[in-house]
Amino acid sequence: MSKSSYELRHDLKVTAPAKINLHLEVLGLRKDGFHELAMVMQSIDLADHLDMRMRKDGLIKLDSDDSSLSNGQGNLIFEAAQLLKMHANLSDLGASIFLQKRIPIGAGLAGGSSDAAATLVGLNSLWGLNYSINELEKLGSKLGSDVPFCIRGGTQLCFGRGECLEPLKNQINSMAILLVKDPLTSVSTPWAYSQCKKINSSRYLTLENEFEECRERLRRESWLNPLSSVNPPPLRNDLQGIVAPVTPAVQKALRILFNLPGTLSVAMSGSGPSCFALYSDLDSANEALIEHRVELQSEGLDGWCCSLKNQGVILES
Ligand code: C5P
Repeated sequence: MSKSSYELRHDLKVTAPAKINLHLEVLGLRKDGFHELAMVMQSIDLADHLDMRMRKDGLIKLDSDDSSLSNGQGNLIFEAAQLLKMHANLSDLGASIFLQKRIPIGAGLAGGSSDAAATLVGLNSLWGLNYSINELEKLGSKLGSDVPFCIRGGTQLCFGRGECLEPLKNQINSMAILLVKDPLTSVSTPWAYSQCKKINSSRYLTLENEFEECRERLRRESWLNPLSSVNPPPLRNDLQGIVAPVTPAVQKALRILFNLPGTLSVAMSGSGPSCFALYSDLDSANEALIEHRVELQSEGLDGWCCSLKNQGVILES
């Protein structure tokens, strides 16, 4: 790959947005042990921020404003940087990265995956590697099933493990969400899927043509073409029925959201415990948050109002 056409940069800022699931359908089990999924993922404007600076000593140095996070192995930022460096086969590539963590951890919002996506996009630019988005998505899939989606973001159909992407165009709309999460609760994604397998595997589909029928049905859903508050997404999350019954924080969040006036629909995101209510616009979501802030606080829930975004990782400067 030629690097000559690329101007090397010495520092940059990258924004890593969270995602929600408008649709998460568990179809069956794959030969690799993962679940075969049919999803619609959506970027939102709750985001982490990464500052990156070039190093000439070949080291990857990570620091963050969240002391609960590892700054080495186990942090997807560190792993993404090492993976990209290995892939480029250039041992002198190094970077100092500082993470401002704003997306709650273990929340079903793909915070770690979006950080990994931002690292791949950011370092690709910082190091002048000039890999295409498709190549970065392919690399990202080695780090986690949601990483490829987080690179381009927006509204996408996600199949396979979640890494087979079909971006949906012209989905810009005014819809917004009120997102809530109990800060004391997190859910392990492997646990949620293993429980799903235990409870539902007798009903799983097994044949590729059955999977394809479900994908086709989702592609044709009228609420997707395009997203709009007039024909709002019905919201479906097959993990909700697995996680909610054993997670009081999810039951509490869903109960409160279902009782709010003006919501279009309510669901858990990913493997939880974050839950969200969909609103026709940001003003209505803000109004609901202001009116119910005391109730959310007294129930121990954090709340955010977020608009839906039409892109994933953003290189800021
Ligand atoms: O890919 P990711 O690291 O996010 O997946 C975390 C875990 O969630 C996997 O190890 C697997 O147990 C489960 N998973 C799954 N099927 C998927 C995605 C994740 O079973 N499609």
